[in-house]
Amino acid sequence: MTAAGNKVQDHYASEGIAARILAALRAAGGSEAGPITPDALAPLDHFHGRGLKATKETVALLEPLSGERILDIGGGIGGPARWTATHFGCHVTSLDLTPEFCRAAEELNAATGLSDRVRVVEGSATDLPFEDDGFDRAYSENVAMNIDDKRRFYAEALRVLRPGAVFAFSHYGAGPKGEPDYPLPWAAGPGTSFLCSPGDTGASSHRGVRDRDLPGQDGGGPAGLAGEPPAVGGTRAAAAGAADAHGRADWGISDQRGPECGRGPFERT
Ligand SMILES: C[S@@+](CC[C@H](N)C(=O)[O-])C[C@H]1O[C@@H](n2cnc3c(N)ncnc32)[C@H](O)[C@@H]1O
Repeated sequence: MTAAGNKVQDHYASEGIAARILAALRAAGGSEAGPITPDALAPLDHFHGRGLKATKETVALLEPLSGERILDIGGGIGGPARWTATHFGCHVTSLDLTPEFCRAAEELNAATGLSDRVRVVEGSATDLPFEDDGFDRAYSENVAMNIDDKRRFYAEALRVLRPGAVFAFSHYGAGPKGEPDYPLPWAAGPGTSFLCSPGDTGASSHRGVRDRDLPGQDGGGPAGLAGEPPAVGGTRAAAAGAADAHGRADWGISDQRGPECGRGPFERT
């Protein structure tokens, strides 16, 4: 484990996460009408800006099929994995660095009856504990900002995918005017925040992949992305709306200093 990795874990870790989420759901009356579902949990367990809406956009790029083996890299407390497994009938492995998040994911899997469809694995995105070619698709939402070695991040994701498989991702990148203002949701300071330029996320710098056309690229992009800037080498640079998306205007985003959003599917050749 690198020093930055330890700090990333410290940033996210806390005790009793699943219990607090389930208590919040009960308090909101969301668990009284029947079994706890991924949709009922969705306001609480998709741990990124715009929550379920952003997950739906990523999954629209992923296009998972029933029965497929999907990998969620940096799956957090498992909300996107449970939602995807339920709505697409696939098996999802949620890999995360933070042990407390992994435990919470397992407890919430049990609470939703999804322990047999969503597997939780503790580990690092830059050293995936999986064999080559073992997954049909992979995705990653708002994780790469914590990872310095982007080349290794993409190389590992693609290594564990079968040829022809898709890797869909979204993350924040650097804006044109330098460091954003900290703290940010993913990092207390620049020591654990590694924002690359939107162009750096393109497939061109990685061997064995090609950018995959975004659905509806000539028609405004997939649902929810209409009006954003055009794709850059298969990766979306979406400064527009980023501040609104997280309900904060004080990250330095509004003056283009802070994060832009990178999004794109790669296809392993
Ligand atoms: C902002 S959260 C997003 C969680 C999840 N993707 C979601 O959207 O609900 C970032 C997650 O990335 C994980 N993470 C950060 N660095 C990682 C690494 N090197 N390997 C695996 N997971 C990592 C953190 O533990 C945390 O769960």
